[in-house]
Amino acid sequence: MNSPVAKIKERLTIEDVVSSYIKLDRVGPNLKARCPFHNEKTPSFFISPDRGSYYCFGCGASGDIFTFVEEFEGLDFKGALKLLAEKAGVPLESYTPEMKEAESEKDRLYQVMEEATVFFENNLKDNTETSKKVMEYLQSRGLVEKSIKDFRLGYAILDWRKLYDYLKSKSFYDREIERAGLAKKPEDMSKAMYDRFRGRVMFPISDSSGRIIAFSGRIFVDDEKSAKYLNSPETPIFSKNAVLYGLDKAKEAIRTNNFSILVEGQMDLVLSHQAGYRNTIATSGTALSDSTISKENVVSNLGLIRRLSDNIVLAFDGDKAGFNASNRAARIALSLGMDVKVTTMPTGIDPADLISKEGVDAWRKAIKDSKHIIEFLLNKTLEESGSDLRKAGRLIKENILPYVNALDSSIEKMHFIKKISILSGIPEVALQDDLKKIEQELKYEKKEIIEVEGSLAKMYRKDYIERRLAGIAFWKQDSGLEGILGEILDKYKDVKNDLIFEAEIFYQNSQNLQKEIDNLLTNLETEKINEELLQKMRELCTNKDKIDEIRLLKEIQELNKKKHDKKEK
Ligand code: UTP
Ligand code: MN
Repeated sequence: MNSPVAKIKERLTIEDVVSSYIKLDRVGPNLKARCPFHNEKTPSFFISPDRGSYYCFGCGASGDIFTFVEEFEGLDFKGALKLLAEKAGVPLESYTPEMKEAESEKDRLYQVMEEATVFFENNLKDNTETSKKVMEYLQSRGLVEKSIKDFRLGYAILDWRKLYDYLKSKSFYDREIERAGLAKKPEDMSKAMYDRFRGRVMFPISDSSGRIIAFSGRIFVDDEKSAKYLNSPETPIFSKNAVLYGLDKAKEAIRTNNFSILVEGQMDLVLSHQAGYRNTIATSGTALSDSTISKENVVSNLGLIRRLSDNIVLAFDGDKAGFNASNRAARIALSLGMDVKVTTMPTGIDPADLISKEGVDAWRKAIKDSKHIIEFLLNKTLEESGSDLRKAGRLIKENILPYVNALDSSIEKMHFIKKISILSGIPEVALQDDLKKIEQELKYEKKEIIEVEGSLAKMYRKDYIERRLAGIAFWKQDSGLEGILGEILDKYKDVKNDLIFEAEIFYQNSQNLQKEIDNLLTNLETEKINEELLQKMRELCTNKDKIDEIRLLKEIQELNKKKHDKKEK
């Protein structure tokens, strides 16, 4: 039997897959596009239909339909396999025997999350006094039954181990239930485990392939001391900062409408979808503007949104719209070349309130009237400073020019300087002067963001090659790879079964496995050289010592030669 990977590749060409995400132009036998994995104006992303692969001359991204979907959607291999199998109409069940054998801890965690979702959903449908009350509450918030069903909302009963007992009855182990973040062990180890979520309305959170990876529970029975929302902890299938709520349902609409709406809560998201704005996504648990989130995380989340569309509308609570100089996320979005707009919302009102109290039309109007973030900030600043021109000047410099600086294009910068000048009465030259100073001050910020984006992609690529190799090593013990990879293998022992599965379905029909291995090893070495090169270049930029400089230049030259030789082979 052919593997599902082979079947999927038979039915879906690289052109089919990539063109369903981005616009392609034909050049001779090949196709080109603006690279989705880094910010560029002129296309350097090429597709070779003959070879079924893509390559970007700008950032080095390369691979087949599987790597493309993984990197584009931020998924692991099995997630990409699920999406592509659905698209190709290849049933994965037919492959179950082998899949079962390779069933890993992660697979079990996905299953336990799915089972918990079903349990919470049923708690809402069982017609008890409690479920009726919860339903009433949800309806009072403006949710209709279809939304509750589509988003699979549920209820965690206010009791110690209802979910735990249910999951045990479904043959899950304590360890799995605990690792999934669904129940906790008490400090007194002789006592039984207890449910993490109790007395809460449950919002399941999916990854972009639709697998449930976490929960966010809103308090229903308020004890006046618990947090309003309780979220799943970090687990092997859930990284807290990496998830946008609703992405699996929104991605298609973001692409077709060519803009996304970012809100800051589960209720906001579900109600916005219900109002017909299916292109809405939400930050869940932690906001992107939160300064405790790493730059890498903000860049990777925004990068994912930007791959779907350059245009984003931020719709936050009127009083929380803290769009001052400290809002890093919006500035990062501008630096990534996105067009960032902001809705004006009444103070203390969030999108959920607006939609349920004032209706869909009010929400439509808010989105339609959204303003470019710089205009939005300018209006706020001018309101604040009234006729005090000096105050306006200071606030503009502090709060607005950093955003102008973040803009990607000089034409845009000029446009906004003009606009600020007209509306504030401050002469353009004065604004230009201040902007120059800020450009100097924030020179590194912008560079760093672009670098972070590049290094995220690189990290991903090296990882990918390593994973493939480790998979083959685990799968074919006699491949000789064990000795070559050495320590690298240790990194992957926890996901050994996953990797064997990947290797098996990728390479089981391979005519020449040795050749595939050789290619992967060559690619890995090239990636390593690239990394070293980048490191040396960085040293060179910050270095002040003449002797070091000569040494570094020499080393860079040698690395470049090594890289060139690799290509020739
Ligand atoms: P809000 O406090 O604005 O709540 O938090 P909300 O979304 O308006 O809640 P509703 O409408 O009363 O149900 C915004 C978001 O911040 C996260 C949640 O994702 C929430 O939706 N949050 C909030 C937490 O993770 N924990 C909390 O204790 C509170
Ligand atoms: Mn709310």
